[in-house]
Amino acid sequence: MKQPAPQTIHLSDYRPFTHVIESVHLTFRLAPKATRVLSRIVFAPNPAAEPGALFLHGEDLTLIRATIDGAEVTPEITDTGLTCAVPEGRFTWEAEVEISPATNTALEGLYMSNGMYCTQCEAEGFRKITYYPDRPDVMAPFTVRIEGDLPVLLSNGNPTDHGAGWAEWTDPWRKPSYLFALVAGDLVAHQDRFTTRSGREVALNIWVRSGDEDKCAFAMDALKRSMTWDEDVYGREYDLDVFNIVAVDDFNAGAMENKGLNVFNAALVLASPETATDANYERIESVIAHEYFHNWTGNRITCRDWFQLCLKEGLTVFRDQQFSGDMRSHAVKRIDDVLALRARQFREDNGPLAHPVRPESFVEVNNFYTATVYDKGAELIGMLKTLVGDEGYAKALDLYFERHDGHAATIEDWLKVFEDATGRDLSQFKLWYSQAGTPRVSVEDSFADGTYTLTFSQSTPPTPGQPDKRPLLIPIAVGLLSPNGEEVVPTRVLELTKPRQSFTFEGLGARPVPSILRNFSAPVTLRRESSADERAFLLTHDTDPFNRWEAGRSLAKDVLVALVTEAADPAPAFLDGLDTLVRDDSLDPAFRALALSLPGQDDMAQTLFDAGTTPDPDRIHAAERQLGRAIAGRLGTTLADLYDALHVPDERYSPDAEAAGRRALRQTALRYLSLIDDGARAKGQFEEADNMTAQVGALTCLLDIDQADAALADFRHQWHGKRLVMDKWFGLQANLSRPDKAVAVTRALTNDPDFDWKNPNRFRAVIGGLSANAAGFHDPSGAGYALVADWLIRLDPVNPQTAARMTTAFETWRRYDADRQALIGETLERIAATPGLSRDTAEMVGRILGR
Ligand code: TRP
Ligand code: ZN
Repeated sequence: MKQPAPQTIHLSDYRPFTHVIESVHLTFRLAPKATRVLSRIVFAPNPAAEPGALFLHGEDLTLIRATIDGAEVTPEITDTGLTCAVPEGRFTWEAEVEISPATNTALEGLYMSNGMYCTQCEAEGFRKITYYPDRPDVMAPFTVRIEGDLPVLLSNGNPTDHGAGWAEWTDPWRKPSYLFALVAGDLVAHQDRFTTRSGREVALNIWVRSGDEDKCAFAMDALKRSMTWDEDVYGREYDLDVFNIVAVDDFNAGAMENKGLNVFNAALVLASPETATDANYERIESVIAHEYFHNWTGNRITCRDWFQLCLKEGLTVFRDQQFSGDMRSHAVKRIDDVLALRARQFREDNGPLAHPVRPESFVEVNNFYTATVYDKGAELIGMLKTLVGDEGYAKALDLYFERHDGHAATIEDWLKVFEDATGRDLSQFKLWYSQAGTPRVSVEDSFADGTYTLTFSQSTPPTPGQPDKRPLLIPIAVGLLSPNGEEVVPTRVLELTKPRQSFTFEGLGARPVPSILRNFSAPVTLRRESSADERAFLLTHDTDPFNRWEAGRSLAKDVLVALVTEAADPAPAFLDGLDTLVRDDSLDPAFRALALSLPGQDDMAQTLFDAGTTPDPDRIHAAERQLGRAIAGRLGTTLADLYDALHVPDERYSPDAEAAGRRALRQTALRYLSLIDDGARAKGQFEEADNMTAQVGALTCLLDIDQADAALADFRHQWHGKRLVMDKWFGLQANLSRPDKAVAVTRALTNDPDFDWKNPNRFRAVIGGLSANAAGFHDPSGAGYALVADWLIRLDPVNPQTAARMTTAFETWRRYDADRQALIGETLERIAATPGLSRDTAEMVGRILGR
């Protein structure tokens, strides 16, 4: 089929839809290559819009017939939809279309995964199911009848009727089409119940393929905890009689919040101690919560248009982060979230793909499900909460639900609620939504006559399309410590609003040590000249756990920078400090594990680049190794003692935070020890492992030191045919193989008979694994670039969404030396010149190239 001409959509072009919808009735007659979809939609003129002909989106549909009020019509049909003259008042549109789920490899619209029918409609997939105003501001109640020869037939809402080979579902809540879902297959349910606080009985089901029902208990428990938490913390109750979750093997993203019928990537539901790691469990808990929380922030209140995506995603990420913090440790969760923010969002914000949290234009909306919209979007909610306080935040959220329930809202609506609830003027704060780039904040201090002064400067670098930036309102949480380590000024939030601004603290007996940007109170890069001694002091004495960790991290970065640029040995003081911290049993093991782990290679590349040095991926990798060996050498006894002491013989695996924290610290110790014990401990651990955390942990260490061949063979033998576990086998090798071997190893993996490349999880494991293997991907020959590009070109016509997303492997190219830039530039041009390239990938590659 001919491709629609790429067109840029602008926020400023928003117009309400000509009509409103009173009701939607859909009938699906399922057949793999010839599913019939019958629609009956009651339209009425939208009093808030200019009247006009009816335009309905539709792509890849075969229209069988269409009627208005029973009379046959012949609409004008294009690649993107149809236009039809319609009566002036209300009317009933009926249409029958044919679609082919079995050949839908893009995994958008109605498709098939291992014999099961399933849908993915966000953002614009519903138009591949039937003709419809496929835009989030058109909300309607849906009734769905499914006819098919499969035992389980599911859709949104409550089940209202069923018979042999058919089922009917009614969703009483008005919703936009992107929240529509249908699932049909041979599935079994892990069942439970939940009673809401007002007494509604809710049936909970997690639907999986037969054989997986023993891997649902953790997700179910996470769901019930999420439901209770949203009642307790936000006062939000569930609003249907059933809540269904389905695990799907082939899925482009993590999971999807369809009303009453969440669809999940199987990797984010299924877990058993033998097959899932601690990290998998933690992620499952947070994604189950995320999708459940969308029921209020996303579904009951949705987005007016896709430019407002952060309205639901930023807020829902913020809510799932709060939840995980409450379930586990707030300090550890915050550090993990900031690590992810810096690794993904700062990377994006400092490259050619930088865009505002609320973008102002796009070609393909799927390309804007980004770390900026999600994770920086969540940071903006956190800053708002810091600025208005916990009570102000609670009042504003209550008003938000009261005022906008059942509607499609904007960022303006969201901010107005905060202004009305708290009386604050948020016009300067609003710039955070429209201005891209990571702000740089630098700080100087002075002390005289008992008065301590902090002077901040802020600036935001240019980003594509935004050469000049205005000053933002930046909340900076600050505390002051006395030289003997006591907190003399507890955390206070300074509001930086000007390009340069001073704040004073009076009545101090001695020059204090400042702890700035506590809990990472704003998504900025903080620059401050400070001595290694001062940071070592904060590492020991700060009362803010985030900044304690941050002090250690910044010391480690300095050490790595010195290793890379001047081959300087790590300072003994740094190693001593680390030893003291790691031995401190009063500290949470999970926190100690974080303090002991080194900045990643990509983070170091950006750090060097920011400091004016062209990063060399090989040297960064070598420096990391050297520092690893130095730490292992200096802390060897401590680490060996920890490794032994943290092992509880015959302990039954439990995924809780406390046990996972102990395992994380033990694993960090093992990773260092493996650099000096020739893998002896890791080999032993691999042999004895009775859970996947231990097994993957050992394999990771063995790959690090290139001694994993035997373990890899055993692992494959043990787990052959188990898709989710084999994804780890593929991914770990691509990601952790030695830089000089990584491309060859990855190429061999792509030739493996089990490399099912049309499955997004498997493709991401292998090709994404190599892209994240910094020194391997950036091999000076360019072989890494070529291999990734070859596979993106191959995947693009099959699954443009996943291909486009993975082009971000190249987004950092401007950091590197001229030779590498030339190689990447040619590679990107090669992708761009591919005939028939999707709109998705074309937009991404064009933006990365700076066009
Ligand atoms: N709304 C989903 C979430 O964040 C994201 C999502 C699921 C998605 N599937 C998608 C986004 C497909 C783009 C394309 O919870
Ligand atoms: Zn979401």
